[in-house]
Amino acid sequence: MSPTPAQRYARLLEEVRRHDHLYYIEARPEISDAAYDRLYRELLDLETSHPKLADENSPTRKVGGAPLDSFRTVAHAVRMQSLNNTYSEEELQDFLDRVEKNLHGQAAEFAVEPKVDGLAVSLRYEQGRLTQGLTRGDGERGDDITENIKTIRNLPLSVPRLPPRIEFRGEVYLPEPAFAALNQSREKKGEPPFANPRNAAAGTLKLLDSREVAKRPLAVVLYGLGDAPGLPLKTQDQLHRQILDWGLPGHDWFRHVRGTAEVLHAIRELNQARTRFSFATDGAVIKVNRFDQQKTLGQTDKAPRWAIAYKYAAEQSETRLLDVTFQVGRTGVITPVAELAPVLLSGSTVSRATLHNFEEIARKDIRVGDLVRVEKAGEVIPAVISVNLSQRPAQSKPIRPPRHCPVCQGPLIKEDAFLRCTSRDCVGQLKRRLQHFAHRGAMDIEGLGEVMAAQLVDAGLLQHLDQIYGLTGEKLAALDRMGEKSAANLLAGIDASRRRSLGRLIFALGIPQVGAVLSETLARHFRSLDRLAEASLSELTLVNDVGPKVAEEIATFFHDASTRRLLTALKKAGLNFTALPSELAERGGVFSGKKFVLTGTLSAPREEFIRRIQSLGGSVSGSVSPKTDYLLAGEDAGSKLEKARSLQVRVLSEKEFEKLVGQKAAE
Ligand code: IVH
Repeated sequence: MSPTPAQRYARLLEEVRRHDHLYYIEARPEISDAAYDRLYRELLDLETSHPKLADENSPTRKVGGAPLDSFRTVAHAVRMQSLNNTYSEEELQDFLDRVEKNLHGQAAEFAVEPKVDGLAVSLRYEQGRLTQGLTRGDGERGDDITENIKTIRNLPLSVPRLPPRIEFRGEVYLPEPAFAALNQSREKKGEPPFANPRNAAAGTLKLLDSREVAKRPLAVVLYGLGDAPGLPLKTQDQLHRQILDWGLPGHDWFRHVRGTAEVLHAIRELNQARTRFSFATDGAVIKVNRFDQQKTLGQTDKAPRWAIAYKYAAEQSETRLLDVTFQVGRTGVITPVAELAPVLLSGSTVSRATLHNFEEIARKDIRVGDLVRVEKAGEVIPAVISVNLSQRPAQSKPIRPPRHCPVCQGPLIKEDAFLRCTSRDCVGQLKRRLQHFAHRGAMDIEGLGEVMAAQLVDAGLLQHLDQIYGLTGEKLAALDRMGEKSAANLLAGIDASRRRSLGRLIFALGIPQVGAVLSETLARHFRSLDRLAEASLSELTLVNDVGPKVAEEIATFFHDASTRRLLTALKKAGLNFTALPSELAERGGVFSGKKFVLTGTLSAPREEFIRRIQSLGGSVSGSVSPKTDYLLAGEDAGSKLEKARSLQVRVLSEKEFEKLVGQKAAE
C-alpha cells in the first residue's frame, strides 16, 4: 500500500524539519544539498497540488543562514545571483523556448558546463594580484574570506596578464581524496565527520584561522565574471578558454551547442564524464552563450533568465541493512529507521534511511542482514526501496513491529499504516515536543535545540515540558560538557521566553493542525490562553480559518487532563498568557486585506515575516492562487515562484518587501 498524499506529506514535513535542524542548528547535515533540494521540492509540490495539506509551519516557510558576524561583510560590486533549478527535460525545454521567445527570433547558442557542488565565491584581482575573496552571503553582501582564499593551492596569487581590475565568480570545493583524509583524522580525534565534501568545504571556509584552512587542500574552479570592466570577451565559451589561458583554474569540460537535441546530448555526455572530475558535480548548467544576448534576457530578483541548472537524477546504491531502530515523533508516531553499513550516495555518506512504516516493511519483505537498495529521490530521502533477495542470508526473519513504545514501553495504537505511542509521559515524545516548544519560530529559547532537549530529558531533569522553568544552575551543572557560561545563557534564554507573545505560546504548545499563522489568529481572537482553552466548539468555529475538524482538534487538545496540568504549571512559572499590545494593534494597516504567500529562504525565520505581515493587516497562506496579492520570495524559491509567475502574481524580494512597507507607511 503506497502512502496517501497526507501521509507522505506528514513524513516529508518531519524529514525536512530534521534536515533543517541538522543543517542550520547542528551544522551536521546527513544528506547532500541535492538530496535536500529534492525533498524540499516534493514538499513544495505537495503543498501546491494539495493546498489543504499545507502546514502553516512548514519548513518551506522557514529561515536561511545570515553571514557570520565574525568576518567583515562587504558589499558585492555586482550582485551574486543564484540559479533556477530543474530536474526535468520538460522544464528544460520550457527554458529553451522562453529564451528563444525573449530573443525575438534570434537564434540562441548555449554553453553547457558542470554544476560544481561547492561554495560560491567572488574573487577580485587588481593589477594582477589577488586582493579580495568574498562568500555569496545574501547575494548583496558577503563575508570577507580573503585570507582563507589565499591558502587555496590551485589559485595563483598573481597573474600578470590580467586586466587591471577583474572579478571572477567560481566555486570552492574539497577534492574527494582530501575529504576522505580529513574525515579520517577527525574521527581519530573524536570529532564528528563531515557528511559530504561540500559541508567540509563550507566548514573550512568559515574557520577564522587561515593557518588551519591552509592545512586542508581546498581548490577552486572559476566559471563566471562579476565586476569586469572593459573585457573584450563576447561569449561564455571564450571566457572558459581565457580563464585557462590566464593560468587560472577553470572548466576544461564544456560544450558549445545549439538546439534542444544538442543541449540534451551535452547534458548526457557530462553525466558520463563527471565521475572523473576532482569536484563533485550535481548537474549541468546551461547558459546562453553570447554575453550580449545574456544582457538582453536580463534577470529576475533571484536568478538570471539566461541560465538554468539541470540536476541529475538520484543515485541508488546497495548496502547491508545492519539493524532496524524505531524513532518516536512529537505526536508519538513510530518511524522505523534502517541502520545501514555506510555507503556513498549522491555525494554524501548514508548510514541511515527511512523505512516509512511497518506496512512498507512487510510489503517489501525487508529483513535485517539483507542487501538493500537505497535511493535519495524526490521522496522521503534517503529511503530503502527494495531488497536483493538473491543475497538474503539464511535464517533471516521478518521484522516485527514493536508491541510497546520503544522509548517508554507504553501502549501503541494503529492509525492507518502507522503505529503511535499514546502515552502522555513518553520521553521520546517529550524530547520532540520540547524541541518544538523552544524552536526559533516558537518560544525561541536559545541553546535549547535537539541535542540539549535530549540531554535534559535523558539526565532526568525533566519529565514535563513546564519543568524547564524550574531548571537552575545547580541542576544544569550535572550535565555533560555544560560550562557555567552556557548554563547561564540557557537559563537567560528560558527566562526571556516567559515574555513571548501569546501567538508564539499557542504555536509552541504544538496543538495538532495549528501552525504559526493560525496561532496568531487565535491569539488575536481570544486574547488570552485561558479563554482559548475554555472555548467551545461553536466559539472556535467562529474564528476565521477554523473549520469543524480543526475546532475539534483544538478542543480535544485543551480538554486533555495533561494539557490542563501543563497550562497550570506554565502559568505558575510566570509565562505571559495574554496578547501583547503589538499583537492586538489595529489591523487596518498598510497591508489591509492583502494576501501574501512566502517562499524560499528569507533572512529571518518565516514566522517573523508572518507576524509582521499580519501586524500590518495582511494575511498569509500556504499556496499561491489567483487570489494571492504578493509572493514574498527568498533565496532558492522553487515551484511557488513559478506558479506565481504563471498567475502573474506580484513577486517581491525581501528588499522590495521592505521598500513597499516603507512606501505604504509614508502614503
Ligand atoms: S552561474 C548568475 N555556473 O550553483 C549566474 N553557477 O545553484 C550564477 N554553481 O550560485 C551562477 N557551478 O554557486 C554558475 N558552472 C556554474 C556553476 C554554478 C556551480 C553554483 C553557484 C550558484 C549555484 C546555484
